[in-house]
Amino acid sequence: MSFLAEKNIFISPEDKALQEVYINSIKNSLSGQTKYAMVETYGCQQNVNDSQRIEGMLLEMGFTLTDDREKADVIIFNTCAIRENAHERVYGNLGALKHVKARKPSLIIGICGCMVQQPQIAKRVKSKYRHVDLIFGTHVLWKFPPLLSEVMEHRERVIDISGDGVICEGTPVNYDGGAKAFVSVMYGCNNFCSYCIVPYVRGRERSRMEEDILSEIDMLAKSGVKEVMLLGQNVNSYGKDRGEENGFANLLKKVCLIDGIERIRFMSSHPKDISEELLRVMAEEEKICKSLHLPLQSGSSKVLSDMNRHYDREKYMGIVKKAKELMPDLSLTTDIIVGFPTETDKDFGDTLSILREVGFDSIFSFIYSPREGTKAAEWENVSTKEEIDKRFRTLLDQQNEISYKLNLRHEGNVEKVLVEGQSKTDPDMMTGRNYANKIVNFKGDESLVGQIIDVKITKAQTWILYGELK
Ligand code: SAH
Ligand code: SF4
Ligand code: F3S
Repeated sequence: MSFLAEKNIFISPEDKALQEVYINSIKNSLSGQTKYAMVETYGCQQNVNDSQRIEGMLLEMGFTLTDDREKADVIIFNTCAIRENAHERVYGNLGALKHVKARKPSLIIGICGCMVQQPQIAKRVKSKYRHVDLIFGTHVLWKFPPLLSEVMEHRERVIDISGDGVICEGTPVNYDGGAKAFVSVMYGCNNFCSYCIVPYVRGRERSRMEEDILSEIDMLAKSGVKEVMLLGQNVNSYGKDRGEENGFANLLKKVCLIDGIERIRFMSSHPKDISEELLRVMAEEEKICKSLHLPLQSGSSKVLSDMNRHYDREKYMGIVKKAKELMPDLSLTTDIIVGFPTETDKDFGDTLSILREVGFDSIFSFIYSPREGTKAAEWENVSTKEEIDKRFRTLLDQQNEISYKLNLRHEGNVEKVLVEGQSKTDPDMMTGRNYANKIVNFKGDESLVGQIIDVKITKAQTWILYGELK
């Protein structure tokens, strides 16, 4: 800890104490009144996990959580910056809150997260959305209690997007109480892929200490959690910031030893950093789901180089081959960007062909969105919007066929399913997830929620598997 403390990766004890002092002072000021708060989350699982921290702090302050904007006394938007449409959704929703605040002037509106960590966006929100009371960035999440207290006491607008990536252990977290939980193992990213805003808004990579992660998971297991998803922008770099090799593989082995945890997943793995050791640990450890999210982005080596991804098509295929050798049932998923500035029809053809070659169970596909401040944002696009839209549709059509075909391989299997609850699409059915994180619907009752049970898969569709209780 002392080595890291010198590098200021952890917040100082004084700042940590400040967090607690303000949590308590807000609690005292509410003095038993019922006040409602809500947190609306945009973006990735890391943001969901951050929102659970904001909710955790709000609960400790004595607020009651709600999903109802009309009822809320405090509304916090935790935002994402990854694509322009993420920004647009936030602007739309912020606009809508103007009327809510006009009806209820005491309402406190806050906005935090990746979007407002960009100074030009914080400035825009400040000048155009006068009804926003609090703007705070990703580096000062821990500071939410003192910042909120300042707004509550002085009824002045407060803006803080300062700081440079610290880790704050011990912030209260509002886990949702289910059998699954997210656990961030590291924050930030060092990779600077040429299209991506994340390193600018999340800062450099910093890894939590192993003992902090393990004690959090142990606590979760004791409270009934059976499945953990370990999170980081590039989990394969876990521990590298303090000079450890194979830090993530070693961490995984230790998580496997925790009683009560039956399933372990992780994301994301950057292909340039995935080690054979990690694949071996995955293959050997029963608790680790044989399911790997390995973002590819493009099948063209030229585009991958322009993206600054540090691997090419051959290297990626080599990893897939090795992983499938070690884990024959492996389920693979990936991220694809369509319409990167230098992508031609031929490059896109390479993406289609690699998707057929690998056989991904599912893909997350995105149309390229220029992000201010990134390298690629300065490049003209060689393709038109129409060409890119057409590519996107072709990609989805091809992938739907592949996903359906691959889903057929589950038919007839008896698979372990972690039961989540009633199916949203079919109230007569219960729903859960198999090892590949695929939705499995089956007839059963509420008493199964939170349990891992055997289900025989009887029918596969593109997005859902159907089964019956064994
Ligand atoms: N750290 C992860 C990715 C996190 S962002 C990794 O490198 O694997 C999730 C996905 O959003 C990325 O994998 C990428 O496919 C997509 N993405 C990121 N920036 C984008 C942009 N500017 N336009 C479109 N998609 C983008
Ligand atoms: Fe973005 Fe690349 Fe970092 Fe992923 S690895 S968060 S895509 S910069
Ligand atoms: Fe979005 Fe920030 Fe996650 S930009 S994808 S919320 S790290």
